[in-house]
Amino acid sequence: MYKKVKLASIISTLVLSATAYSAEMTVGFSQIGSESGWRAAETSVAKSEAQKRGIILKIADAQQKQENQIKAIRSFIAQGVDAIFIAPVVQTGWEPVLQEAKEAEIPVFLLDRNITVKDDGLFMTGVAADSVHEGEVAAQWLIKQQDGKPCNVVELQGTVGASVALDRKKGFLDTVSAVPTIKIIRTQSGDFTRSKGKEVMESFIKAENNGKNICAVYAHNDDMAIGAIQAIKEAGLKPGKDIKIISIDGVPDIFKAMMAGEANASVELTPNMAGPAFDALLAYKKDGALPPKLIKTESVLFEPESAEAQLELKKDMGY
Ligand code: AHR
Repeated sequence: MYKKVKLASIISTLVLSATAYSAEMTVGFSQIGSESGWRAAETSVAKSEAQKRGIILKIADAQQKQENQIKAIRSFIAQGVDAIFIAPVVQTGWEPVLQEAKEAEIPVFLLDRNITVKDDGLFMTGVAADSVHEGEVAAQWLIKQQDGKPCNVVELQGTVGASVALDRKKGFLDTVSAVPTIKIIRTQSGDFTRSKGKEVMESFIKAENNGKNICAVYAHNDDMAIGAIQAIKEAGLKPGKDIKIISIDGVPDIFKAMMAGEANASVELTPNMAGPAFDALLAYKKDGALPPKLIKTESVLFEPESAEAQLELKKDMGY
Protein backbone atom coordinates (compact mmCIF):
# COMPACT_ATOMS: atom_id res chain seq x y z
CA MET A 1 0.00 0.00 0.00
CA TYR A 2 2.77 2.39 1.10
CA LYS A 3 4.72 1.49 -2.04
CA LYS A 4 1.67 2.20 -4.26
CA VAL A 5 1.01 5.56 -2.60
CA LYS A 6 4.71 6.45 -2.76
CA LEU A 7 4.87 5.50 -6.50
CA ALA A 8 1.71 7.50 -7.26
CA SER A 9 3.15 10.50 -5.47
CA ILE A 10 6.47 10.23 -7.36
CA ILE A 11 4.60 10.00 -10.68
CA SER A 12 2.38 12.95 -9.89
CA THR A 13 5.43 14.99 -8.78
CA LEU A 14 7.17 14.14 -12.07
CA VAL A 15 4.10 15.07 -14.13
CA LEU A 16 3.66 18.27 -12.16
CA SER A 17 7.30 19.28 -12.48
CA ALA A 18 7.33 18.48 -16.23
CA THR A 19 4.21 20.60 -16.64
CA ALA A 20 5.64 23.37 -14.49
CA TYR A 21 8.92 23.29 -16.46
CA SER A 22 7.30 23.42 -19.89
CA ALA A 23 4.84 26.06 -18.68
CA GLU A 24 7.81 28.13 -17.55
CA MET A 25 8.45 29.61 -20.94
CA THR A 26 6.09 30.33 -23.81
CA VAL A 27 7.34 31.91 -27.02
CA GLY A 28 5.07 33.32 -29.73
CA PHE A 29 6.58 33.04 -33.22
CA SER A 30 5.17 35.19 -36.01
CA GLN A 31 6.30 33.27 -39.07
CA ILE A 32 6.04 34.75 -42.59
CA GLY A 33 4.36 31.76 -44.20
CA SER A 34 5.56 28.81 -46.23
CA GLU A 35 6.67 30.43 -49.47
CA SER A 36 9.79 28.29 -49.85
CA GLY A 37 11.36 24.97 -48.89
CA TRP A 38 13.76 26.90 -46.69
CA ARG A 39 10.91 28.61 -44.82
CA ALA A 40 9.16 25.29 -44.14
CA ALA A 41 12.46 23.91 -42.80
CA GLU A 42 12.94 26.94 -40.55
CA THR A 43 9.48 26.36 -39.03
CA SER A 44 10.13 22.69 -38.47
CA VAL A 45 13.57 23.33 -36.91
CA ALA A 46 12.02 25.99 -34.63
CA LYS A 47 9.54 23.39 -33.34
CA SER A 48 12.22 20.82 -32.60
CA GLU A 49 14.61 23.35 -31.02
CA ALA A 50 11.76 24.51 -28.73
CA GLN A 51 10.97 20.94 -27.77
CA LYS A 52 14.62 20.20 -26.93
CA ARG A 53 14.58 23.05 -24.43
CA GLY A 54 11.09 22.36 -22.99
CA ILE A 55 9.76 25.65 -24.40
CA ILE A 56 6.15 26.01 -25.56
CA LEU A 57 6.19 27.49 -29.05
CA LYS A 58 3.07 29.09 -30.52
CA ILE A 59 3.42 29.68 -34.25
CA ALA A 60 1.25 32.10 -36.24
CA ASP A 61 1.49 31.81 -40.04
CA ALA A 62 1.11 35.28 -41.59
CA GLN A 63 0.62 34.09 -45.18
CA GLN A 64 3.18 36.61 -46.40
CA LYS A 65 1.29 39.62 -45.02
CA GLN A 66 2.76 42.16 -42.58
CA GLU A 67 -0.74 43.06 -41.33
CA ASN A 68 -1.22 39.43 -40.23
CA GLN A 69 2.14 39.53 -38.46
CA ILE A 70 1.15 42.69 -36.59
CA LYS A 71 -2.15 41.06 -35.52
CA ALA A 72 -0.32 37.96 -34.33
CA ILE A 73 2.19 40.02 -32.34
CA ARG A 74 -0.66 41.92 -30.65
CA SER A 75 -2.32 38.65 -29.79
CA PHE A 76 0.95 37.29 -28.30
CA ILE A 77 1.22 40.46 -26.21
CA ALA A 78 -2.35 40.01 -24.98
CA GLN A 79 -1.57 36.39 -24.06
CA GLY A 80 1.44 37.55 -22.03
CA VAL A 81 4.01 35.28 -23.69
CA ASP A 82 7.58 35.32 -22.36
CA ALA A 83 9.12 36.35 -25.67
CA ILE A 84 8.16 37.02 -29.27
CA PHE A 85 10.08 35.75 -32.29
CA ILE A 86 9.41 37.50 -35.61
CA ALA A 87 10.57 36.63 -39.11
CA PRO A 88 9.71 40.07 -40.54
CA VAL A 89 8.31 39.85 -44.06
CA VAL A 90 9.36 43.42 -44.91
CA GLN A 91 11.93 45.78 -43.47
CA THR A 92 9.80 48.79 -42.43
CA GLY A 93 6.61 49.54 -40.49
CA TRP A 94 7.35 47.73 -37.23
CA GLU A 95 7.82 50.61 -34.76
CA PRO A 96 4.28 50.90 -33.26
CA VAL A 97 3.78 47.20 -32.56
CA LEU A 98 7.32 46.75 -31.22
CA GLN A 99 6.74 49.72 -28.93
CA GLU A 100 3.67 47.87 -27.58
CA ALA A 101 5.78 44.77 -26.93
CA LYS A 102 8.39 46.89 -25.17
CA GLU A 103 5.76 48.51 -22.95
CA ALA A 104 4.51 45.02 -22.06
CA GLU A 105 8.16 44.09 -21.24
CA ILE A 106 8.19 41.23 -23.73
CA PRO A 107 11.57 40.78 -25.43
CA VAL A 108 11.49 40.52 -29.22
CA PHE A 109 13.87 38.39 -31.29
CA LEU A 110 14.17 38.73 -35.08
CA LEU A 111 14.76 35.66 -37.21
CA ASP A 112 16.39 35.57 -40.65
CA ARG A 113 15.46 39.10 -41.81
CA ASN A 114 16.26 42.60 -40.56
CA ILE A 115 14.10 45.63 -39.86
CA THR A 116 14.75 49.37 -39.92
CA VAL A 117 13.78 51.12 -36.68
CA LYS A 118 15.08 54.33 -35.12
CA ASP A 119 15.48 52.70 -31.71
CA ASP A 120 17.21 49.32 -31.85
CA GLY A 121 16.19 48.82 -28.22
CA LEU A 122 12.84 47.73 -29.68
CA PHE A 123 14.30 44.26 -30.24
CA MET A 124 16.79 42.22 -28.28
CA THR A 125 18.72 40.59 -31.11
CA GLY A 126 18.41 39.24 -34.62
CA VAL A 127 19.64 35.86 -35.83
CA ALA A 128 20.44 36.19 -39.51
CA ALA A 129 23.06 35.87 -42.22
CA ASP A 130 24.78 38.89 -43.72
CA SER A 131 22.62 39.06 -46.84
CA VAL A 132 24.80 41.64 -48.58
CA HIS A 133 27.65 39.14 -48.22
CA GLU A 134 25.46 36.34 -49.65
CA GLY A 135 25.00 38.45 -52.79
CA GLU A 136 28.74 39.14 -52.93
CA VAL A 137 29.58 35.44 -52.64
CA ALA A 138 27.19 34.64 -55.50
CA ALA A 139 28.69 37.40 -57.67
CA GLN A 140 32.28 36.36 -56.95
CA TRP A 141 31.42 32.81 -58.00
CA LEU A 142 30.07 34.07 -61.34
CA ILE A 143 33.01 36.39 -61.95
CA LYS A 144 35.40 33.47 -61.38
CA GLN A 145 33.39 31.18 -63.67
CA GLN A 146 33.32 33.72 -66.48
CA ASP A 147 37.03 34.53 -66.18
CA GLY A 148 36.69 37.65 -68.34
CA LYS A 149 34.07 36.22 -70.74
CA PRO A 150 30.95 38.41 -71.15
CA CYS A 151 27.77 37.45 -69.35
CA ASN A 152 24.21 38.80 -69.37
CA VAL A 153 22.58 38.04 -66.04
CA VAL A 154 18.88 37.98 -65.20
CA GLU A 155 18.00 38.44 -61.55
CA LEU A 156 15.02 36.97 -59.70
CA GLN A 157 14.51 39.11 -56.63
CA GLY A 158 12.83 38.07 -53.41
CA THR A 159 9.77 39.70 -51.85
CA VAL A 160 9.58 43.45 -52.51
CA GLY A 161 10.62 45.37 -49.38
CA ALA A 162 12.19 42.35 -47.64
CA SER A 163 15.60 43.10 -46.15
CA VAL A 164 17.07 39.94 -47.66
CA ALA A 165 15.90 40.92 -51.16
CA LEU A 166 17.33 44.44 -50.85
CA ASP A 167 20.62 43.21 -49.41
CA ARG A 168 21.12 40.24 -51.74
CA LYS A 169 20.52 42.59 -54.66
CA LYS A 170 23.00 45.15 -53.33
CA GLY A 171 25.77 42.65 -52.61
CA PHE A 172 25.54 41.10 -56.08
CA LEU A 173 25.15 44.39 -57.97
CA ASP A 174 28.00 46.18 -56.17
CA THR A 175 30.33 43.25 -56.84
CA VAL A 176 29.55 42.71 -60.54
CA SER A 177 29.58 46.47 -61.17
CA ALA A 178 33.37 46.29 -60.92
CA VAL A 179 33.44 43.89 -63.89
CA PRO A 180 32.28 45.61 -67.10
CA THR A 181 31.80 42.30 -68.99
CA ILE A 182 29.07 41.16 -66.57
CA LYS A 183 25.74 42.95 -66.92
CA ILE A 184 22.40 42.53 -65.17
CA ILE A 185 20.04 42.88 -68.12
CA ARG A 186 16.73 42.15 -66.33
CA THR A 187 15.62 42.10 -62.72
CA GLN A 188 12.20 41.45 -61.21
CA SER A 189 10.64 40.03 -58.07
CA GLY A 190 9.57 36.39 -58.05
CA ASP A 191 8.40 36.76 -54.42
CA PHE A 192 10.62 33.87 -53.23
CA THR A 193 8.23 31.29 -54.71
CA ARG A 194 8.79 28.57 -57.26
CA SER A 195 5.70 29.45 -59.31
CA LYS A 196 6.52 33.18 -59.57
CA GLY A 197 10.17 32.39 -60.28
CA LYS A 198 9.04 30.29 -63.23
CA GLU A 199 6.57 32.89 -64.46
CA VAL A 200 9.11 35.73 -64.35
CA MET A 201 11.79 33.58 -65.99
CA GLU A 202 9.37 32.76 -68.83
CA SER A 203 8.93 36.48 -69.47
CA PHE A 204 12.72 37.05 -69.37
CA ILE A 205 13.22 34.23 -71.88
CA LYS A 206 10.59 35.65 -74.26
CA ALA A 207 12.11 39.12 -74.06
CA GLU A 208 15.68 37.89 -74.58
CA ASN A 209 15.68 36.06 -77.92
CA ASN A 210 14.10 32.91 -76.49
CA GLY A 211 16.71 32.90 -73.73
CA LYS A 212 19.69 32.96 -76.09
CA ASN A 213 20.86 36.37 -74.78
CA ILE A 214 20.94 35.08 -71.21
CA CYS A 215 24.14 33.66 -69.75
CA ALA A 216 23.16 33.27 -66.07
CA VAL A 217 20.29 33.44 -63.59
CA TYR A 218 20.95 34.92 -60.16
CA ALA A 219 17.98 33.96 -57.96
CA HIS A 220 17.61 35.31 -54.41
CA ASN A 221 16.48 31.84 -53.32
CA ASP A 222 16.64 28.24 -54.51
CA ASP A 223 12.88 27.89 -54.98
CA MET A 224 12.82 30.66 -57.61
CA ALA A 225 15.89 29.07 -59.22
CA ILE A 226 14.04 25.77 -59.47
CA GLY A 227 11.09 27.55 -61.11
CA ALA A 228 13.56 29.18 -63.54
CA ILE A 229 15.14 25.80 -64.34
CA GLN A 230 11.71 24.51 -65.35
CA ALA A 231 11.10 27.55 -67.57
CA ILE A 232 14.51 27.13 -69.24
CA LYS A 233 13.83 23.45 -69.97
CA GLU A 234 10.41 24.26 -71.43
CA ALA A 235 12.10 26.79 -73.73
CA GLY A 236 14.29 23.98 -75.08
CA LEU A 237 17.51 25.15 -73.38
CA LYS A 238 19.74 23.36 -70.88
CA PRO A 239 19.80 24.90 -67.38
CA GLY A 240 23.23 24.66 -65.77
CA LYS A 241 24.87 24.59 -69.23
CA ASP A 242 23.25 27.03 -71.70
CA ILE A 243 22.25 29.21 -68.76
CA LYS A 244 24.14 29.05 -65.44
CA ILE A 245 22.11 28.97 -62.23
CA ILE A 246 23.32 30.52 -58.98
CA SER A 247 21.03 30.98 -55.98
CA ILE A 248 20.80 31.12 -52.18
CA ASP A 249 19.52 28.73 -49.44
CA GLY A 250 21.00 25.28 -50.03
CA VAL A 251 17.71 23.35 -49.95
CA PRO A 252 17.65 19.66 -50.92
CA ASP A 253 15.99 20.32 -54.32
CA ILE A 254 18.83 22.57 -55.47
CA PHE A 255 21.34 19.84 -54.61
CA LYS A 256 19.22 17.37 -56.59
CA ALA A 257 19.26 19.85 -59.50
CA MET A 258 23.07 20.12 -59.18
CA MET A 259 23.37 16.34 -59.30
CA ALA A 260 21.27 16.38 -62.50
CA GLY A 261 23.65 19.02 -63.96
CA GLU A 262 20.89 21.66 -63.95
CA ALA A 263 22.16 24.06 -61.25
CA ASN A 264 25.66 25.34 -60.61
CA ALA A 265 25.98 26.83 -57.12
CA SER A 266 24.04 27.82 -54.01
CA VAL A 267 24.99 29.91 -50.96
CA GLU A 268 23.70 28.07 -47.92
CA LEU A 269 21.46 29.71 -45.33
CA THR A 270 20.96 27.59 -42.23
CA PRO A 271 17.29 27.00 -41.33
CA ASN A 272 18.30 26.87 -37.65
CA MET A 273 17.59 30.48 -36.74
CA ALA A 274 15.46 29.64 -33.67
CA GLY A 275 18.12 27.60 -31.79
CA PRO A 276 20.51 30.55 -31.20
CA ALA A 277 17.51 32.80 -30.41
CA PHE A 278 16.24 30.35 -27.74
CA ASP A 279 19.74 30.20 -26.24
CA ALA A 280 19.95 34.00 -26.10
CA LEU A 281 16.48 34.15 -24.53
CA LEU A 282 17.33 31.55 -21.87
CA ALA A 283 20.59 33.34 -20.98
CA TYR A 284 18.71 36.63 -20.71
CA LYS A 285 15.99 35.14 -18.49
CA LYS A 286 18.58 33.38 -16.31
CA ASP A 287 20.92 36.24 -15.50
CA GLY A 288 19.96 39.21 -17.65
CA ALA A 289 22.76 38.55 -20.18
CA LEU A 290 22.29 40.78 -23.22
CA PRO A 291 23.14 39.17 -26.58
CA PRO A 292 24.86 41.07 -29.42
CA LYS A 293 22.43 42.91 -31.71
CA LEU A 294 23.19 40.43 -34.49
CA ILE A 295 23.89 36.74 -34.11
CA LYS A 296 25.36 36.10 -37.54
CA THR A 297 25.03 32.76 -39.31
CA GLU A 298 27.51 31.54 -41.94
CA SER A 299 27.19 31.85 -45.73
CA VAL A 300 29.01 28.96 -47.41
CA LEU A 301 28.89 28.39 -51.16
CA PHE A 302 28.25 24.85 -52.42
CA GLU A 303 28.87 23.50 -55.91
CA PRO A 304 27.90 20.20 -57.58
CA GLU A 305 30.92 18.29 -56.17
CA SER A 306 29.48 18.50 -52.67
CA ALA A 307 25.79 18.15 -53.64
CA GLU A 308 25.42 14.48 -52.70
CA ALA A 309 27.02 14.93 -49.27
CA GLN A 310 24.96 18.07 -48.63
CA LEU A 311 21.75 16.27 -49.56
CA GLU A 312 22.58 13.62 -46.98
CA LEU A 313 23.29 16.25 -44.29
CA LYS A 314 20.01 18.04 -44.96
CA LYS A 315 18.06 14.98 -43.82
CA ASP A 316 18.87 15.90 -40.20
CA MET A 317 17.97 19.56 -40.69
CA GLY A 318 14.20 19.57 -40.75
CA TYR A 319 13.85 19.35 -44.53
O1 AHR B 1 14.60 35.31 -45.22
C1 AHR B 1 15.16 34.16 -45.74
C2 AHR B 1 14.59 33.89 -47.11
O2 AHR B 1 13.20 33.77 -47.04
C3 AHR B 1 15.05 32.60 -47.75
O3 AHR B 1 16.22 32.74 -48.47
C4 AHR B 1 13.91 32.34 -48.67
O4 AHR B 1 13.89 31.06 -49.21
C5 AHR B 1 12.79 32.62 -47.76
O5 AHR B 1 11.59 32.66 -48.30
